[in-house]
Amino acid sequence: MSKTKTQFVCSNCGYISPTYLGRCPNCGEWNTFTEETVTKDSGTNAKSTRVSLTGGRVEPQLINEVDAQDAPRYQIQSAELNRVLGGGIVPGSLVLIGGDPGIGKSTLLLQVSGQLATLGKRVLYVTGEESADQVKMRADRLQIAANDRLYVFPETDMTAVRDAIANLKPDVVIVDSVQTMQESDVDSAIGSVSQVRGVTTDLMNIAKTNNITVFIVGHVTKGGAIAGPKTLEHMVDTVLYFEGDKHHSYRLLRAVKNRFGSTNELGIFEMADGGLQEVQNPSEIFLEERLKNATGSAIVVAMEGTRPILVELQALITPSVFGNAQRTATGVDRNRISLIMAVLEKRAGLMLQNQDAYVKAAGGVKLNEPAIDLAMAVSIASSYENISTNPRECYVGELGLTGEVRRVDRMEQRIREAAKLGFDRIVVPQHSLEGLDVPDGIEVIGVTTLEEALKLAIPK
Ligand code: TYD
Ligand code: MG
Repeated sequence: MSKTKTQFVCSNCGYISPTYLGRCPNCGEWNTFTEETVTKDSGTNAKSTRVSLTGGRVEPQLINEVDAQDAPRYQIQSAELNRVLGGGIVPGSLVLIGGDPGIGKSTLLLQVSGQLATLGKRVLYVTGEESADQVKMRADRLQIAANDRLYVFPETDMTAVRDAIANLKPDVVIVDSVQTMQESDVDSAIGSVSQVRGVTTDLMNIAKTNNITVFIVGHVTKGGAIAGPKTLEHMVDTVLYFEGDKHHSYRLLRAVKNRFGSTNELGIFEMADGGLQEVQNPSEIFLEERLKNATGSAIVVAMEGTRPILVELQALITPSVFGNAQRTATGVDRNRISLIMAVLEKRAGLMLQNQDAYVKAAGGVKLNEPAIDLAMAVSIASSYENISTNPRECYVGELGLTGEVRRVDRMEQRIREAAKLGFDRIVVPQHSLEGLDVPDGIEVIGVTTLEEALKLAIPK
């Protein structure tokens, strides 16, 4: 007979304690412990039912003898998703997609299922949140071609899911969502840390032993992390976050972990009536609402992974009413604003210490590379001096503490993107131009100091 006992599990890191604790001694988070019942000889490690379609066992082999397939990836129709995944879908990989409720995770995965089925892959879409009717209605609205390779399975019990996988032998399994799935031999509530971990371990075994690609949807907590322990992110191969402003129709798909490619890649979609549409030319959407001749606006060519995008940085500088001047940031790092304002004050003679500053990357993007420094400085100076920048000009460069403009990478690509979008002039670090094959169609000006750049950008 199995014995039951209770334990307390940290919902952040998965730390287990026999008693309730206010603060987790492992990760230091407060109020994260939840009570769970465990049945002895259950748990995630004691899983005996491994699904193996081939029935094969894995033995240690010499690395030279490992038979790596020639084409380990395949591309689907969605170029954005292919890129975020590092060049296509890797068979046997486990991909976790997190995001706020209603952001479009189910929509994305249903569209991807349709595309996979069209490619000739057999897809099993397991949903613990919607009925088969609901999924069908959504599929009709998304105009997913009816075909005989896409299966919908409304189920929350993992035993049934394992059986279905063994019967159907799909190439791809979609699980929407991991928090609604249940392992019958784990004795705690659906959505609890032990359940989520058990389900993920199970799905990992299924993916790895049968070479089935598994996409898992994960809910996001208020803090923005995927609900359940952080260990979940360690278990899977790829973690994607689907994010976006509720008030904009744009959705950004970002890789935060990828064993098969670079992170920092960004996929951009637009939520329309017919589902998610790919955005081919992202720079245009980030610039489309820009006011011409407004002060406090500067365009930067930022890199998102391997792709350049043009983004408007906006600054509003107003005299401070309270003793302490405020620095408020949206989409950029607040400490970076303080640093750049200090450099502007000391190296360019702007009296900014008693001014409040609000700085924003327009369009809901988040920028965190140093190359945005120069554009940020220009936008702040433009707002402070009340002089507008040339709307057909953009700025790229990192600022040093002595007021020098430092070299940034991928300069040629950035200049090309600015030229492609019809900009007349781009101000860049002089050092980045050394040995660079300057693309034509745009005037490229190299600067070495912030002062030089400001003279060009906001001539008094
Ligand atoms: P959904 O995929 O259900 O989100 P999640 O699975 O992340 O919770 O997306 C739901 C939202 O998307 C909903 O608010 C309506 C919107 N939507 C559209 O605008 N167009 C569409 O074609 C679809 C299917 C959804
Ligand atoms: Mg959903």
